[in-house]
Amino acid sequence: MERFAALDIGSSKIVYLIGERDSYGELHVIGIGEVKSKGVYKGIINNLNEAKASIKRAFQEAEEMAGVKVRDVVYNVSGASLKNNTVKSQNERESITISPNPTEIERSHVSRLLERCRVKSKEDGYEIVFHEPRKFILDDQGEVKNPLGLLGSKLSAEVHVVKVSSTIIKNLEKAIRETGLNPVQRVVSAIASARAVLKPDEMEDGVLVMDIGAGLTDYTLYHEGTPLVTGVVPFGGNNITKDLSHYLKLDTEEAERVKLKYGHAFAPAVPEDEEIQIKPRGEEKEVTRPKREIADVIQARLEEIIEKVFKELESQGVKRELIKAGVVVTGGTANLPGIKELVEHMTGLPARIGYPEGIIGLKEKINDPRYATAVGLLRTAFEREEGSIGGEEEGGGFFKELWRAFRRLFEDIA
Ligand SMILES: Nc1ncnc2c1ncn2[C@@H]1O[C@H](COP(=O)(O)OP(=O)(O)OP(=O)(O)O)[C@@H](O)[C@H]1O
Ligand SMILES: [Mg+2]
Repeated sequence: MERFAALDIGSSKIVYLIGERDSYGELHVIGIGEVKSKGVYKGIINNLNEAKASIKRAFQEAEEMAGVKVRDVVYNVSGASLKNNTVKSQNERESITISPNPTEIERSHVSRLLERCRVKSKEDGYEIVFHEPRKFILDDQGEVKNPLGLLGSKLSAEVHVVKVSSTIIKNLEKAIRETGLNPVQRVVSAIASARAVLKPDEMEDGVLVMDIGAGLTDYTLYHEGTPLVTGVVPFGGNNITKDLSHYLKLDTEEAERVKLKYGHAFAPAVPEDEEIQIKPRGEEKEVTRPKREIADVIQARLEEIIEKVFKELESQGVKRELIKAGVVVTGGTANLPGIKELVEHMTGLPARIGYPEGIIGLKEKINDPRYATAVGLLRTAFEREEGSIGGEEEGGGFFKELWRAFRRLFEDIA
């Protein structure tokens, strides 16, 4: 029986999923472990021992439920500091000359071209965690989907490259290894979430995924089937809780409770006369406040996050018309009522909430946007052998990656 595991290291929770391929070839989740994450701040390990203990508890819990041990694990990378851009993407273009006369394009040509793109996008302090060809251009023929076997003199490619700070990755890997797990592949959080919640036609038509978690908002924009812009904004649901705590003078626990119970992302949808009970710091008794006030605070923070994402897209030259399939909001914060309306109101684009798909087993439990990343990681683990998912770099395993990319191309034409 083939088994797979995924580890989502989040700012609020660590999730370990174990899945297996059933006799119909489908991915079945058979174990889930979830613990509050300690020693992790905005995707960054800030206390090694605490982080290791949390990871360990998560996988032990999952293994207990599944009744099997699975230690080869696909995990997520993200992270943000307020100063540096810790996750960034670019679309690198390169060309190679094949021969003066049109000659058949072989694998070695494509491999040389992709390697050039990769070398060109290298940067000190960063590791390339994803690179996938967006398009190939063959002489005067213009764009081609798959250049293999075609004749040409010059081949160009545009490759989407995502880079993450080396220090963040090295520390994540160290924490994972030291718990006894074997990290086999890493996936940028946003891309993992996208794989769990997007439909193939949305990826083709142009869609923005925002995974609004606790500490981070990971985003990626897919267009023509591959990512075009990928990044992270260093704010999430924890910031909403902090804002509520600040403006309404609540301790963090009470602020979180108020958010979960009464929170709404779109203030105009909250009736003006609705009131709620909250317990401010140091007060003996609860006080009455308008529910809309809570929504105002939440909406302001979400607007800031969404604006930051769109600003970044704009600076990368993305026009709104490119996002035809609209916005998919996922991550725990996507559970806030009114978030779809807020995004539609702000962007003028259609929006929906992204629930993780493509798995069976434990569906009731996993059918929540906060499991998008974990499910995307498990699907990556499941599909990586078949080569139907490509793009990630495995510790410099460029040829492995290339092989997967090729198999993907072959499948496209099959
Ligand atoms: N029903 C809800 N209403 C409002 N907020 C919610 C709800 N459910 C979860 N959240 C918020 O979602 C956040 C947790 O989301 P998630 O589990 O996706 O984060 P994470 O993966 O641990 O963190 P990150 O991805 O940022 O590192 C918390 O801030 C939590 O308060
Ligand atoms: Mg997350």
